[in-house]
Amino acid sequence: MKILGIETSCDETAAAVVEDGASILSNQIASQVAIHARYGGIVPEVASRQHILAIIPILKQALAEARVTWSDLDGLAVTIGPGLAGSLLVGVNTAKAIALAHRLPVTGVNHLEGHIYANWLVDRHHHSAPDFPLLCLIVSGGHSDLVLMKGHGDYLLLGQTRDDAAGEAFDKAARILGLGYPGGPAIERAATSGDTSIPLPRAWLKGTNDFSFSGIKTALRRLAEGDKISTKGDAAASFQEAVVAVLVTKTVAVAKEYRVKQILLAGGVAANGRLRQRLVQDSPLPVLIPPLNLCTDNAAMIAACGYYRFQSGKRDGLDLDVIPGLKLG
Ligand code: KG4
Ligand code: ZN
Repeated sequence: MKILGIETSCDETAAAVVEDGASILSNQIASQVAIHARYGGIVPEVASRQHILAIIPILKQALAEARVTWSDLDGLAVTIGPGLAGSLLVGVNTAKAIALAHRLPVTGVNHLEGHIYANWLVDRHHHSAPDFPLLCLIVSGGHSDLVLMKGHGDYLLLGQTRDDAAGEAFDKAARILGLGYPGGPAIERAATSGDTSIPLPRAWLKGTNDFSFSGIKTALRRLAEGDKISTKGDAAASFQEAVVAVLVTKTVAVAKEYRVKQILLAGGVAANGRLRQRLVQDSPLPVLIPPLNLCTDNAAMIAACGYYRFQSGKRDGLDLDVIPGLKLG
Protein backbone atom coordinates (compact mmCIF):
# COMPACT_ATOMS: atom_id res chain seq x y z
CA MET A 1 0.00 0.00 0.00
CA LYS A 2 1.54 3.31 -1.15
CA ILE A 3 0.63 6.42 0.87
CA LEU A 4 1.46 10.01 -0.06
CA GLY A 5 2.16 12.04 3.06
CA ILE A 6 1.86 15.84 3.21
CA GLU A 7 3.26 17.98 6.04
CA THR A 8 2.94 21.78 6.31
CA SER A 9 2.34 22.36 10.05
CA CYS A 10 5.26 24.73 10.64
CA ASP A 11 8.10 25.93 8.41
CA GLU A 12 8.84 22.89 6.25
CA THR A 13 6.80 22.06 3.15
CA ALA A 14 7.15 18.30 2.82
CA ALA A 15 5.78 15.43 0.72
CA ALA A 16 6.76 11.75 0.76
CA VAL A 17 5.65 8.39 -0.59
CA VAL A 18 5.90 5.46 1.84
CA GLU A 19 5.07 1.82 1.16
CA ASP A 20 3.37 -0.32 3.82
CA GLY A 21 4.18 2.17 6.58
CA ALA A 22 7.87 1.25 6.50
CA SER A 23 9.81 1.83 3.30
CA ILE A 24 10.45 5.33 2.06
CA LEU A 25 10.08 5.61 -1.72
CA SER A 26 10.60 9.38 -1.62
CA ASN A 27 11.02 12.09 1.01
CA GLN A 28 11.06 15.71 -0.19
CA ILE A 29 11.39 18.77 2.04
CA ALA A 30 11.50 22.49 1.19
CA SER A 31 12.85 24.24 4.26
CA GLN A 32 12.06 27.87 5.04
CA VAL A 33 14.77 28.10 7.72
CA ALA A 34 16.87 30.63 5.79
CA ILE A 35 13.86 32.94 5.37
CA HIS A 36 12.79 32.89 9.04
CA ALA A 37 16.38 33.05 10.35
CA ARG A 38 16.37 36.77 9.43
CA TYR A 39 13.63 37.31 12.02
CA GLY A 40 15.12 35.00 14.66
CA GLY A 41 12.00 32.79 14.62
CA ILE A 42 9.04 31.69 12.54
CA VAL A 43 6.75 34.39 11.14
CA PRO A 44 3.38 32.60 10.60
CA GLU A 45 2.16 34.81 7.74
CA VAL A 46 5.43 34.35 5.84
CA ALA A 47 5.32 30.58 6.50
CA SER A 48 1.86 30.07 4.98
CA ARG A 49 2.76 32.10 1.88
CA GLN A 50 5.92 30.03 1.39
CA HIS A 51 3.90 26.80 1.71
CA ILE A 52 1.62 27.98 -1.12
CA LEU A 53 4.66 28.57 -3.34
CA ALA A 54 6.38 25.30 -2.48
CA ILE A 55 3.62 22.70 -2.19
CA ILE A 56 3.02 21.82 -5.88
CA PRO A 57 6.74 21.58 -6.83
CA ILE A 58 7.39 19.45 -3.72
CA LEU A 59 4.51 17.10 -4.55
CA LYS A 60 5.78 16.68 -8.11
CA GLN A 61 9.29 15.95 -6.82
CA ALA A 62 7.95 13.39 -4.32
CA LEU A 63 6.08 11.50 -7.07
CA ALA A 64 9.06 11.71 -9.44
CA GLU A 65 11.58 10.50 -6.83
CA ALA A 66 9.28 7.56 -5.96
CA ARG A 67 8.74 6.88 -9.69
CA VAL A 68 4.98 6.74 -9.24
CA THR A 69 1.98 8.51 -10.75
CA TRP A 70 -1.28 9.43 -8.99
CA SER A 71 -2.86 6.14 -10.05
CA ASP A 72 -0.15 4.16 -8.22
CA LEU A 73 -1.16 5.69 -4.88
CA ASP A 74 -3.57 4.05 -2.43
CA GLY A 75 -4.22 7.00 -0.13
CA LEU A 76 -3.25 10.38 1.27
CA ALA A 77 -2.18 11.31 4.78
CA VAL A 78 -1.99 14.96 5.79
CA THR A 79 -1.09 16.77 9.02
CA ILE A 80 -4.15 18.51 10.50
CA GLY A 81 -2.52 19.77 13.74
CA PRO A 82 -1.05 20.83 16.07
CA GLY A 83 0.62 23.70 14.23
CA LEU A 84 0.10 27.09 12.64
CA ALA A 85 -3.43 27.42 11.24
CA GLY A 86 -2.42 29.20 8.03
CA SER A 87 0.35 26.69 7.35
CA LEU A 88 -1.80 23.63 8.10
CA LEU A 89 -4.54 24.92 5.78
CA VAL A 90 -2.25 24.78 2.74
CA GLY A 91 -1.49 21.08 3.27
CA VAL A 92 -5.05 20.08 4.17
CA ASN A 93 -6.66 21.93 1.25
CA THR A 94 -4.11 20.53 -1.18
CA ALA A 95 -4.72 16.98 0.11
CA LYS A 96 -8.48 17.38 -0.23
CA ALA A 97 -8.14 18.69 -3.80
CA ILE A 98 -5.96 15.69 -4.73
CA ALA A 99 -8.36 13.29 -3.00
CA LEU A 100 -11.27 14.69 -5.01
CA ALA A 101 -9.44 14.87 -8.34
CA HIS A 102 -7.85 11.41 -8.14
CA ARG A 103 -10.54 9.65 -6.07
CA LEU A 104 -8.11 8.76 -3.28
CA PRO A 105 -9.02 8.19 0.38
CA VAL A 106 -7.59 10.73 2.83
CA THR A 107 -6.77 10.53 6.53
CA GLY A 108 -5.88 13.44 8.83
CA VAL A 109 -2.80 12.88 10.98
CA ASN A 110 -1.75 14.40 14.31
CA HIS A 111 1.75 15.84 13.81
CA LEU A 112 2.98 14.41 17.14
CA GLU A 113 1.65 10.97 16.22
CA GLY A 114 3.62 11.41 12.99
CA HIS A 115 6.82 12.07 14.94
CA ILE A 116 6.28 8.82 16.88
CA TYR A 117 5.76 6.88 13.64
CA ALA A 118 9.15 7.97 12.31
CA ASN A 119 10.28 4.99 14.41
CA TRP A 120 8.36 2.62 12.12
CA LEU A 121 10.31 3.77 9.07
CA VAL A 122 12.93 1.07 9.38
CA ASP A 123 14.37 -1.48 7.02
CA ARG A 124 12.30 -4.56 7.97
CA HIS A 125 14.95 -6.89 6.58
CA HIS A 126 17.38 -5.79 9.27
CA HIS A 127 15.25 -4.35 12.08
CA SER A 128 11.90 -5.28 13.55
CA ALA A 129 9.10 -2.79 14.11
CA PRO A 130 8.64 -1.29 17.60
CA ASP A 131 7.06 -3.61 20.15
CA PHE A 132 4.15 -2.66 22.47
CA PRO A 133 3.76 -1.60 25.22
CA LEU A 134 6.29 1.16 24.75
CA LEU A 135 7.07 4.57 26.17
CA CYS A 136 7.70 7.44 23.78
CA LEU A 137 9.48 10.67 24.65
CA ILE A 138 8.38 13.32 22.14
CA VAL A 139 10.63 16.36 22.27
CA SER A 140 9.93 19.03 19.67
CA GLY A 141 9.65 22.79 19.34
CA GLY A 142 6.24 22.78 21.01
CA HIS A 143 6.12 19.59 23.12
CA SER A 144 7.94 17.52 25.72
CA ASP A 145 5.57 14.62 26.20
CA LEU A 146 5.90 11.16 27.75
CA VAL A 147 3.37 8.93 26.02
CA LEU A 148 2.48 5.31 26.80
CA MET A 149 1.46 3.28 23.74
CA LYS A 150 -0.20 -0.11 24.18
CA GLY A 151 -1.00 -0.49 20.48
CA HIS A 152 -1.34 1.45 17.23
CA GLY A 153 -3.24 4.69 17.76
CA ASP A 154 -3.50 4.06 21.52
CA TYR A 155 -1.92 6.93 23.47
CA LEU A 156 -1.87 7.75 27.17
CA LEU A 157 -0.17 11.02 28.08
CA LEU A 158 1.83 10.34 31.26
CA GLY A 159 3.81 13.57 31.49
CA GLN A 160 4.29 16.88 29.71
CA THR A 161 6.04 20.20 30.07
CA ARG A 162 4.54 22.74 32.42
CA ASP A 163 6.12 25.69 30.60
CA ASP A 164 8.68 25.69 27.78
CA ALA A 165 9.07 22.64 25.54
CA ALA A 166 12.56 21.13 25.23
CA GLY A 167 13.09 22.46 21.69
CA GLU A 168 11.75 25.86 22.70
CA ALA A 169 14.26 25.91 25.58
CA PHE A 170 17.11 25.12 23.17
CA ASP A 171 15.91 27.90 20.82
CA LYS A 172 15.64 30.46 23.65
CA ALA A 173 19.03 29.50 25.13
CA ALA A 174 20.64 29.94 21.71
CA ARG A 175 19.07 33.37 21.41
CA ILE A 176 20.36 34.38 24.88
CA LEU A 177 23.86 33.25 23.89
CA GLY A 178 23.64 34.90 20.45
CA LEU A 179 24.10 31.58 18.66
CA GLY A 180 21.38 32.07 16.05
CA TYR A 181 18.32 30.17 14.83
CA PRO A 182 17.32 27.35 14.90
CA GLY A 183 18.75 27.02 18.36
CA GLY A 184 18.99 23.26 18.89
CA PRO A 185 21.64 22.52 16.27
CA ALA A 186 23.46 25.79 17.18
CA ILE A 187 23.68 24.80 20.88
CA GLU A 188 24.83 21.30 19.98
CA ARG A 189 27.57 22.68 17.71
CA ALA A 190 28.76 25.23 20.28
CA ALA A 191 28.72 22.58 23.04
CA THR A 192 31.43 20.57 21.30
CA SER A 193 33.96 23.31 22.12
CA GLY A 194 33.02 23.67 25.82
CA ASP A 195 32.69 21.78 29.09
CA THR A 196 29.78 21.30 31.48
CA SER A 197 31.29 23.33 34.33
CA ILE A 198 28.57 26.00 34.68
CA PRO A 199 26.03 24.96 37.33
CA LEU A 200 22.46 25.31 36.03
CA PRO A 201 19.23 24.29 37.81
CA ARG A 202 17.61 20.96 36.94
CA ALA A 203 13.86 20.87 37.61
CA TRP A 204 13.09 17.31 38.70
CA LEU A 205 9.43 17.99 39.70
CA LYS A 206 9.65 14.92 41.97
CA GLY A 207 6.53 12.82 42.29
CA THR A 208 5.32 13.83 38.83
CA ASN A 209 6.22 12.81 35.28
CA ASP A 210 6.17 16.43 34.12
CA PHE A 211 9.00 18.62 32.89
CA SER A 212 9.84 22.29 33.31
CA PHE A 213 12.49 24.14 31.32
CA SER A 214 11.76 27.80 32.00
CA GLY A 215 13.88 27.95 35.19
CA ILE A 216 17.07 26.87 33.45
CA LYS A 217 16.46 29.40 30.67
CA THR A 218 16.05 32.22 33.23
CA ALA A 219 19.18 31.12 35.10
CA LEU A 220 21.14 31.18 31.86
CA ARG A 221 19.83 34.66 31.05
CA ARG A 222 20.88 35.96 34.51
CA LEU A 223 24.38 34.52 34.07
CA ALA A 224 24.69 36.03 30.60
CA GLU A 225 23.46 39.44 31.78
CA GLY A 226 25.84 39.35 34.75
CA ASP A 227 28.78 38.50 32.49
CA LYS A 228 29.27 35.28 34.46
CA ILE A 229 29.71 32.99 31.48
CA SER A 230 33.26 31.80 30.77
CA THR A 231 32.70 30.90 27.12
CA LYS A 232 29.64 30.34 24.92
CA GLY A 233 30.83 26.77 24.47
CA ASP A 234 30.76 26.14 28.23
CA ALA A 235 27.30 27.70 28.51
CA ALA A 236 25.96 25.63 25.60
CA ALA A 237 27.49 22.39 26.92
CA SER A 238 26.24 23.01 30.47
CA PHE A 239 22.75 23.88 29.25
CA GLN A 240 22.55 20.84 26.95
CA GLU A 241 23.78 18.50 29.69
CA ALA A 242 21.23 19.79 32.21
CA VAL A 243 18.27 19.44 29.80
CA VAL A 244 19.41 16.00 28.59
CA ALA A 245 19.96 14.74 32.17
CA VAL A 246 16.39 15.61 33.19
CA LEU A 247 14.83 14.19 30.00
CA VAL A 248 16.76 10.91 30.19
CA THR A 249 16.46 10.31 33.95
CA LYS A 250 12.70 10.91 34.02
CA THR A 251 12.06 8.88 30.85
CA VAL A 252 13.98 5.85 32.16
CA ALA A 253 12.17 6.05 35.53
CA VAL A 254 8.72 6.16 33.89
CA ALA A 255 9.63 3.31 31.51
CA LYS A 256 10.56 1.13 34.51
CA GLU A 257 7.42 2.09 36.42
CA TYR A 258 5.12 1.15 33.53
CA ARG A 259 7.14 -2.00 32.65
CA VAL A 260 7.28 -1.20 28.94
CA LYS A 261 9.30 -3.25 26.46
CA GLN A 262 11.01 -0.34 24.70
CA ILE A 263 11.65 3.37 24.76
CA LEU A 264 11.09 5.43 21.61
CA LEU A 265 12.55 8.87 21.04
CA ALA A 266 10.85 11.28 18.64
CA GLY A 267 10.67 14.92 17.53
CA GLY A 268 13.23 17.51 16.44
CA VAL A 269 15.24 17.42 19.67
CA ALA A 270 15.73 13.66 19.12
CA ALA A 271 18.34 14.80 16.57
CA ASN A 272 20.53 15.91 19.49
CA GLY A 273 23.61 13.69 19.68
CA ARG A 274 24.07 13.96 23.45
CA LEU A 275 20.40 13.06 24.10
CA ARG A 276 20.62 10.04 21.77
CA GLN A 277 23.87 8.89 23.36
CA ARG A 278 22.81 9.31 26.97
CA LEU A 279 19.39 7.70 26.57
CA VAL A 280 20.93 4.60 25.01
CA GLN A 281 23.64 4.56 27.72
CA ASP A 282 21.29 4.98 30.72
CA SER A 283 18.36 2.83 29.60
CA PRO A 284 18.25 -0.84 30.63
CA LEU A 285 15.60 -1.28 27.90
CA PRO A 286 16.04 -1.23 24.13
CA VAL A 287 15.88 2.33 22.76
CA LEU A 288 14.66 3.17 19.25
CA ILE A 289 15.61 6.49 17.67
CA PRO A 290 14.87 7.57 14.10
CA PRO A 291 17.77 8.54 11.82
CA LEU A 292 18.60 12.27 12.02
CA ASN A 293 16.65 13.36 8.93
CA LEU A 294 13.47 11.68 10.22
CA CYS A 295 13.62 13.37 13.66
CA THR A 296 12.89 16.87 12.40
CA ASP A 297 9.72 17.63 10.45
CA ASN A 298 9.15 15.49 7.36
CA ALA A 299 6.26 13.91 5.46
CA ALA A 300 7.49 10.29 5.49
CA MET A 301 6.51 10.05 9.17
CA ILE A 302 3.03 11.39 8.32
CA ALA A 303 2.64 8.78 5.55
CA ALA A 304 3.78 5.99 7.93
CA CYS A 305 1.24 7.06 10.53
CA GLY A 306 -1.41 7.38 7.80
CA TYR A 307 -0.79 3.77 6.76
CA TYR A 308 -1.66 2.51 10.26
CA ARG A 309 -4.70 4.79 10.39
CA PHE A 310 -5.99 3.34 7.10
CA GLN A 311 -5.26 -0.17 8.43
CA SER A 312 -7.61 0.51 11.33
CA GLY A 313 -10.29 2.00 9.07
CA LYS A 314 -9.71 5.64 10.00
CA ARG A 315 -10.67 7.65 6.93
CA ASP A 316 -11.80 11.22 6.73
CA GLY A 317 -14.27 12.97 4.45
CA LEU A 318 -13.80 16.12 2.43
CA ASP A 319 -15.01 18.08 5.46
CA LEU A 320 -11.57 17.38 7.00
CA ASP A 321 -10.30 20.56 8.64
CA VAL A 322 -7.23 21.85 10.47
CA ILE A 323 -7.08 21.67 14.29
CA PRO A 324 -4.19 24.00 15.33
CA GLY A 325 -4.46 22.99 19.02
CA LEU A 326 -4.90 19.26 18.41
CA LYS A 327 -3.93 17.00 21.33
CA LEU A 328 -2.68 13.42 21.24
CA GLY A 329 -5.21 10.65 22.02
O1 KG4 B 1 9.91 18.43 15.48
P1 KG4 B 1 10.47 19.68 14.99
O2 KG4 B 1 11.28 19.67 13.74
O3 KG4 B 1 9.32 20.74 14.79
C1 KG4 B 1 8.26 20.81 15.71
O4 KG4 B 1 7.33 19.98 15.59
O5 KG4 B 1 8.35 21.66 16.61
O6 KG4 B 1 11.33 20.28 16.20
C2 KG4 B 1 11.98 21.50 16.09
C3 KG4 B 1 12.78 21.72 17.36
C4 KG4 B 1 13.41 23.11 17.41
O7 KG4 B 1 13.13 23.68 18.67
C5 KG4 B 1 14.90 22.81 17.23
O8 KG4 B 1 15.74 23.76 17.87
C6 KG4 B 1 15.02 21.44 17.85
O9 KG4 B 1 13.85 20.78 17.46
N1 KG4 B 1 16.20 20.72 17.38
C7 KG4 B 1 17.22 20.36 18.19
C8 KG4 B 1 18.21 19.79 17.35
N2 KG4 B 1 17.75 19.80 16.07
C9 KG4 B 1 16.50 20.39 16.11
N3 KG4 B 1 17.40 20.50 19.52
C10 KG4 B 1 18.56 20.06 20.04
N4 KG4 B 1 19.55 19.51 19.31
C11 KG4 B 1 19.42 19.35 17.97
N5 KG4 B 1 20.40 18.80 17.25
ZN1 ZN C 1 7.56 18.51 14.45
